[in-house]
Amino acid sequence: MEQSKFTASSIGKKFLMAATGFFLMVFLLVHLSVNLFLFGGKQAFNEASHFMATNPLIQISQYILAAGFIAHIFFGIKLYIQNKSARGKVTYAVNQWQAHTPFNARTMIYTGLLILCFLILHLKDFTIPIKIADTRRFTHYELVTEHFKNPIYTVIYLIAFILLAIHLSHGFQSAFQSMGARHKSYTPFIEKLGVLYFWFISLGFSTIALWFFFKQ
Ligand code: HEM
Repeated sequence: MEQSKFTASSIGKKFLMAATGFFLMVFLLVHLSVNLFLFGGKQAFNEASHFMATNPLIQISQYILAAGFIAHIFFGIKLYIQNKSARGKVTYAVNQWQAHTPFNARTMIYTGLLILCFLILHLKDFTIPIKIADTRRFTHYELVTEHFKNPIYTVIYLIAFILLAIHLSHGFQSAFQSMGARHKSYTPFIEKLGVLYFWFISLGFSTIALWFFFKQ
C-alpha cells in the first residue's frame, strides 16, 4: 500500500496512533523517573534536570517528542471524526457501540483533549520559563515547589493525572492490539502490565504534587 493510502486508511491511522502512543508512554516513564529526583532534594533534582537539558541525545529527542505529540493528537482527532461519521449513518450501530464499549474507550477523545489543555498549561508554566528565563533567578526545583504551593494549581494537576490514568487504562492495551499483538496466551499479561503502568504513572505524578503541596 502507498504511504498516503496507508495513513488515510483506518488501520493506518490506528497503527500511527499506537506507534506514537508507545513513544509517549516511554516519554512519561522517563519524565516521571527524572521527577522522582525531586524527593532527593534541590541538588539531586537540579543535577538530573541539568543532565536532561544538556545531553545532546535528549535535546534531539525533544524534537521527535514534539512531533510524536502532534501526530498522536492529529491522527486521534481524524480517527474520531472518521468513526463518528461512519456510525452517524446508522443509529443502531451507535447504540450497539455505546452499549458494548467500556467508559475509558468511549471517552478517549475527551480525556485526550483535556490532557492537551493540561499540557498547554504545563508547558507555559514549566518549559517556557525554563527555556527563556534567567536560571540564576530560580532553579528547576524552585519552579516545581513554588507551583505546588497553590491549592488550585495542585487540584488542576491531580484532575489531569486522573484523566491521564483513564486515557492510559485503555490506550496501553489498545496500542498493543492495534500493532496486531492479540493472543489468548499473552493478552492477559499485556492487560496486567497496562494496569501496573497506568497506576504507576498517575500515582507517581500525583504523589509529587501532593508531597510538595503538604510540605510547604
Ligand atoms: C507532578 C507532575 C509533573 C511535574 C512536576 C513536571 C515537571 C516538568 C518540568 C520541570 C519540565 C521542564 C523540563 C525542562 O525543560 O528541563 C517539564 C516538561 C515537560 N513535561 Fe512535565 N511534569 C509533570 C507532569 C507531566 C505530565 C503528566 C506530562 C504529560 C502528559 C508532562 C509533559 C511534559 C512535556 C511534554 C514537557 C516538555 C518536554 C521537555 O522539556 O523535556 N509533564 N515537566
